[in-house]
Amino acid sequence: MMDEEIKSKIEIPETEEKEAESLSPKISVEKLNFFYGRTQALKDISVGIKENQVTAFIGPSGCGKSTFLRCLNRMNDLIPGTKVSGKIYFDGTDIYTRDIDLSELRRKVGMVFQKSNPFPKSIFENVAYGLKIQGVTDKAILEETVEKTLRDAALWDEVKDKLDQSAMKLSGGQQQRVCIARALAVQPEVLLMDEPASALDPISTAKIEELISDLKKNYTIVIVTHNMQQAARISDYTGFFFLGELIEFDRTSDIFTNPKNKKTEDYVTGRFG
Ligand SMILES: Nc1ncnc2c1ncn2[C@@H]1O[C@H](COP(=O)(O)OP(=O)(O)OP(=O)(O)O)[C@@H](O)[C@H]1O
Ligand SMILES: [Mg+2]
Repeated sequence: MMDEEIKSKIEIPETEEKEAESLSPKISVEKLNFFYGRTQALKDISVGIKENQVTAFIGPSGCGKSTFLRCLNRMNDLIPGTKVSGKIYFDGTDIYTRDIDLSELRRKVGMVFQKSNPFPKSIFENVAYGLKIQGVTDKAILEETVEKTLRDAALWDEVKDKLDQSAMKLSGGQQQRVCIARALAVQPEVLLMDEPASALDPISTAKIEELISDLKKNYTIVIVTHNMQQAARISDYTGFFFLGELIEFDRTSDIFTNPKNKKTEDYVTGRFG
């Protein structure tokens, strides 16, 4: 154990390491089980997601990654016939109690999906959408927030002269950044991203990856990806799911260079999946 600690200290800049280690988890998952009807999709998952870090979840298709992500902001509640047991704490508060405000939870824990899904509205209206829902009507505040968020989403320069144009006319990569901006506009604390770049070309993918690395200064990011190089490039922590179980969770460098479980090793070396 001692050796492991020393090793990871050598690989990661010391200040970053200290900061990360001293943080209590932003989200703490304890013995989470999830069922679709009688099918159990998640088995006894316990994991801590640290603040201002990028946490990646990898694993073969159907192993429960998206289900897990949707548990973190209770999006699965929308699917009939599902059942959850165990605990998920967000900043120490149990999010599966009856009195939790779901719209507030989903504001704090925003989500971006694999397939970009801008509304058939202008770029401006897409980004301002959440604010308007919250009742913000002040034009100056809306304009200021839309600009700031589009800058944060690394899209401002590309769209600043056509904010009134339909978001549907943008490229796939730009549309995905509109969706990221839309999620950021309501000032979430956590951003859940389910394969946000899998439908994009390499250049757009690189932009999204760069953006994720930037965003972690201000947000806690949880990303699901099929792309192991991507997980290795952008994440601080990586979890490997297999058949509904979280087989291994550790610093990304350890998962990829020094996995403790044989299944993790086989997966990250491309022997299955
Ligand atoms: N809405 C649903 N109703 C019933 N079963 C579901 C539903 N969504 C997912 N499942 C099942 O739960 C299991 C986990 O699915 P999930 O989508 O979480 O996997 P995944 O790891 O995200 O896969 P992929 O990499 O293909 O996206 C699968 O067996 C799947 O068939
Ligand atoms: Mg999925």
